[in-house]
Amino acid sequence: MENMTELTPVTEATATKAPAKTLAVPDSQTVTEVKHWTDRLFSFRVTRPASLRFRAGEFVMIGLMQTDEKTGREKPLLRAYSIASPSWDEELEFYSIKVQDGPLTSRLQHIQPGDEIILRPKPVGTLVHDALLPGKRLWLFATGTGIAPFASLLRDPQTFEDYDEVILTHTCREVGELQYGKELIDDIRSDELLAELIGEGFADKLRYYPTTTREDSPKMGRITDLMRSGECFKDLGVPVISPETDRAMVCGNLAFNLEIKEMLEGYGLEEGANSDPKTYVVEKAFLD
Ligand code: A2P
Repeated sequence: MENMTELTPVTEATATKAPAKTLAVPDSQTVTEVKHWTDRLFSFRVTRPASLRFRAGEFVMIGLMQTDEKTGREKPLLRAYSIASPSWDEELEFYSIKVQDGPLTSRLQHIQPGDEIILRPKPVGTLVHDALLPGKRLWLFATGTGIAPFASLLRDPQTFEDYDEVILTHTCREVGELQYGKELIDDIRSDELLAELIGEGFADKLRYYPTTTREDSPKMGRITDLMRSGECFKDLGVPVISPETDRAMVCGNLAFNLEIKEMLEGYGLEEGANSDPKTYVVEKAFLD
């Protein structure tokens, strides 16, 4: 914005009309790909700012311009979105819900390749390796679009260097909502570049545990209930979570986060932060 003021000669035309519009589209990136997964879910890719470095699991603010009803001025409407792509990818990927009357996603769901979105290049977040103490087994607990930060973490070499076993659980209402995660896991398992980057056989450490709650699938039920009953641990052939061996990252809807947080604390895990790494971390999946 400062550059814009410096470089744009202030003529009468720019002074009266242009500034609101030119100054109002900072940090824009171009959409390169959009994929609709269900009538409630879509993913999209955008160009990556050359200066943007981020840690797997972090989020950025993204959005669109909107007209302020009172002033008639254009201003950014931004929401926090986890970066779903790995930090070595030359583009950025995001995975989003579509809310028909949601202020942002009612419009964002219509983006097309070539369109511009706003992306503030300031990544932050707690679902990062730095916020966890070393452990043997890493649990990634997701509901719905909460899988997004894990899509990045599961392609980060550190995830497999730091742990002997990585378990992704994903609970969705319907089978179609699992597809993004299913393809992600299939791609990771067959990706030769990743095997080269992370090490042959890395994918053997990866376990995937998808469940649905409102449509029939091979594993039905909320992950929280399946843990409480012990069924999840039995299915995976692992012991119940313990602070000696297990670490967890949680990303889902608010009710899920609160419930699983309490369960993890019950197993003896403690919530960590960037400045104070401990045994589990939580972040809310974005809902418009
Ligand atoms: P359910 O269908 O029983 O509500 P949403 O799309 O609403 O964000 O939900 C995503 C998934 O999270 C759904 O399968 C939903 O199950 C599940 N879920 C919602 N609340 C909880 C909770 N407190 N504990 C575990 N899973 C939950």
